[in-house]
Amino acid sequence: MFKKSLLQYILTMFAILFLLKPFSIKAQTSSNTALPKKFSLNKGWKFHLGDVEFPVVRGHYMSYANAKAGTAWGAAAPDYDDHNWRTLTLPHDWASEQPFDSTANLSQGYRNRGFGWYRRQFKLDSTDRGKYLELQFEGIATYATIWVNGLLVHRNWCGYTSSYIDITPFAKYGDQVNTIAIRVDANAQEGWWYEGAGIYRNTWLIKRESVHIITDGVYANPVKTGATTWTIPGEITIENSGNDTRQVDLEMSLYTPDLKLLTTGHSSIDIKPLCKKASNITLNYSDPRLWSVSIPTLYYVKTIIKIDSQIVDSLITKCGFRTIKFDADSGFYLNNQRLKLQGVCNHQDHAGVGVAVPDSIVAFRLRKLKEMGVNAYRCAHNPPSVQFLNLCDEMGIMVMDENRNFNSSPEYVRQLQWMVRRDRNHPSVILWSVFNEEPMQGSEIGYQMVRRMSHTVKELDTTRPVTAAMNGGLFDPVNVSQAVDVVGFNYQSYAYDRFHKENPTTALTSSEDVSGFMTRGAFTTNKAKHILDSYDTQYAMWGTSQRKGWKLIAERPFIAGNFIWSGFDYHGEPSPFGWPSASSFFGLMDLCGFPKMAYYLHQAQWIKDKPVLHLIPHWNWPADSIGKKIKVMVLSNVESVKLYLNGQLLGEQKVDPYEMNTWMIPYQPGTLKAVGFAKNKQIATDLVATTGDAVSVRISTDRLFINGDGLDALPITVEALDTKGRHVPNASDHIKFTLTGPARIIGLGNGDPNSHEPEKGDQRSLFNGLAQVIIQSNEVNKDTQVTLHAIAKGLKPFVLKIPVKAGRPLLYAPVISSTLLIDKWLMSPMTDQKPDPDQVIAENDMNSWQPTSTGKLTTLTAQYVIFRSSLSKPLANVEKAHLLLKKAAGKAKVYIDGHLAYQKIDQEPADISIEIEQAQLVKQISVLFEGKAGDRIGIMGTVELK
Ligand code: GAL
Repeated sequence: MFKKSLLQYILTMFAILFLLKPFSIKAQTSSNTALPKKFSLNKGWKFHLGDVEFPVVRGHYMSYANAKAGTAWGAAAPDYDDHNWRTLTLPHDWASEQPFDSTANLSQGYRNRGFGWYRRQFKLDSTDRGKYLELQFEGIATYATIWVNGLLVHRNWCGYTSSYIDITPFAKYGDQVNTIAIRVDANAQEGWWYEGAGIYRNTWLIKRESVHIITDGVYANPVKTGATTWTIPGEITIENSGNDTRQVDLEMSLYTPDLKLLTTGHSSIDIKPLCKKASNITLNYSDPRLWSVSIPTLYYVKTIIKIDSQIVDSLITKCGFRTIKFDADSGFYLNNQRLKLQGVCNHQDHAGVGVAVPDSIVAFRLRKLKEMGVNAYRCAHNPPSVQFLNLCDEMGIMVMDENRNFNSSPEYVRQLQWMVRRDRNHPSVILWSVFNEEPMQGSEIGYQMVRRMSHTVKELDTTRPVTAAMNGGLFDPVNVSQAVDVVGFNYQSYAYDRFHKENPTTALTSSEDVSGFMTRGAFTTNKAKHILDSYDTQYAMWGTSQRKGWKLIAERPFIAGNFIWSGFDYHGEPSPFGWPSASSFFGLMDLCGFPKMAYYLHQAQWIKDKPVLHLIPHWNWPADSIGKKIKVMVLSNVESVKLYLNGQLLGEQKVDPYEMNTWMIPYQPGTLKAVGFAKNKQIATDLVATTGDAVSVRISTDRLFINGDGLDALPITVEALDTKGRHVPNASDHIKFTLTGPARIIGLGNGDPNSHEPEKGDQRSLFNGLAQVIIQSNEVNKDTQVTLHAIAKGLKPFVLKIPVKAGRPLLYAPVISSTLLIDKWLMSPMTDQKPDPDQVIAENDMNSWQPTSTGKLTTLTAQYVIFRSSLSKPLANVEKAHLLLKKAAGKAKVYIDGHLAYQKIDQEPADISIEIEQAQLVKQISVLFEGKAGDRIGIMGTVELK
């Protein structure tokens, strides 16, 4: 599976480079079009855990200034001193760094969340002037307030939607520094599960020509029109941030997966300044290779826009040719073939990393699900990352894409629109879900709200049905099921038949079911210790066993399929327990992605094209168990199974595809073996053996190398072995790791919902024989390796060398060393009499002193003028500082708190550099310029305190 997705990745990269090639060639003759457009902003952030109080606004002057654009105070202001803050690289989830705390919210995994601040500075080239500039934040948990250059530019009211911020009007260029400040309120909760805290998805700086395709501005989703004919009703939305109306030629082309041009369409529109406009281009094509879950073929759509024959913007999107249908009698069809949805619901977090999950760990999780036989994934209960959807497209996993906030008022409609616009080209997306389990589902109000939300979706995409995951209200006279295309059942399996009977023309799917409880690797329940066995006997009051849940679906053709709660365990919601349990018991896999019994159970039920046979439990029972009956289960899709203990046949059973097969076997140490047969031929075996004590450690990876791109992350399995090299299933040794070479440990886990060991650091205990350490590469430009040592008391250590391949790092917006910018300046009236540089400005004077800024020159109309800046806060923990006034033009004297600190005699622009002792006492800087009327004076660069 991995090989396949790696190959696909390489092909995709190759395809994109190939498709972009003509643009680079063209760009040699046109302006700037070859310049990269997308820069990661992930590096170089300053972070402060906890809130930073804003200064109290008091007094006339401050109140006046506070009410003005671009004058943010405190940590939101460019002139804030953040040099003591931690420097980090995004994505970041500070909740996963916190200790477990019994007083924190159980739902959020007993992690304190609170507030946090992030700041980052960047520069723009002077040639960027005139371009359209956008900041993108793909996900911040949970509420975010964003300032750029002291201007409040955005408030994001959802931890799962992206923010796209046009910074063109207030960006600074050349020597000037841009400052982003973000206050994150992670006390805000949108879920009853672990949501993490902080900027946990990618951040980008986008540079486009003034006439450009807007973000998520290409809609190119193939629709079938005849037996073999298809059309792509393309829609391209462009924007003009420039000054003049422009005539724009648009072109959309379809390419095969192997990059053969199939067809091209054109259109032409005028676009006025500061307007957005959509243009349509239809591409027709016949007999495409279809996208399916087994062969997820992807085509490429290249969109370019031109002005005067010069390309000004281009975008490559992927699409898939496939049809979907939900039928009220016979369920779901992909490409006209019936296919039961074998789905799981999941939250987005993983062991060790919280919600800041690297893409390669997302890929690892999807691979594990595919291996289990999953073909559908419900993003519970929020939109996923865009990288997640790209992976589902490539791997052939169908997605129920779910909106977070159920609300039809404008801000929430905006969130829903964003989701559909961003995700509507992905062939993997087959359902839009507008809500999960809403109390208003059985009411007129709920119905009216869903009608409107469904309408919002359909204005943007009519090719997928709208659903809502209902856990009640289905039989109320007015209810939400009347406003959706496919009714989602959360649990309520008792009502499948009645609802179908009463609503025979309504399509149904289970949107959530089962909610079974299991502790991975445990086969004895101990409720006092919060341990639940793996025999599929325990589930939530509202759920079913894994086996019954699937039988109910599999035997009802009118139900499209299921979405089991849940594919993986997740932090938080540790039902049926509370403290000290801190993560869930629902997963078919644990928090690390280690399979539980339920994983093999569904694998046996869902995989049809190869034999599956798995035997539980382990065979390491204590001496006093000898002779006592142990429950043995075989999870298999073969016809019949024979069971042997120490070579002796214990019996043969025909496999029951729903219930599976159970034996009660008097325990004897040794080897228990299951042999599977089809048509009287042996086609599969599995065995469990009694091992000796652990004597050594082993670590292994599911991939042979890691990419040295600074992003690739590798989950590494850690276990203990006996003298014969066999995995010891009940080992709990504490392992310490040392990593050398260009990589770092970013998280650790072991799948124990009751563990309070930190998820960061360099050590972890095995839980029922397993632990996971996740490493992430640093950037390297030649092939090398990293070495991971695993050491445990009394065990033979293990050393693993992992090749690191030279990587192609992302393009990053350069990190500039963090400086305190002195950017709030006032300019005195100009006078021919030498003014007192330390004069007090009257509190109520808003007019005789004018706000001014650095980065420009002013013409003198008299002999003298003072530039004045006051530090809002003393510098923290600083004795000495360095004040730098870059490119000061004109004769000038610099006064610090009334004392002359520097004298510049030349008129020519020059840097002024002043060493300040006792810098923490500095309150006020005044620059007295002197010249004659007509002279140009001012500070052309920045003023910085370092
Ligand atoms: C459902 C809910 C899920 C999860 C699950 C646990 O009602 O939609 O988010 O809480 O219960 O059984």
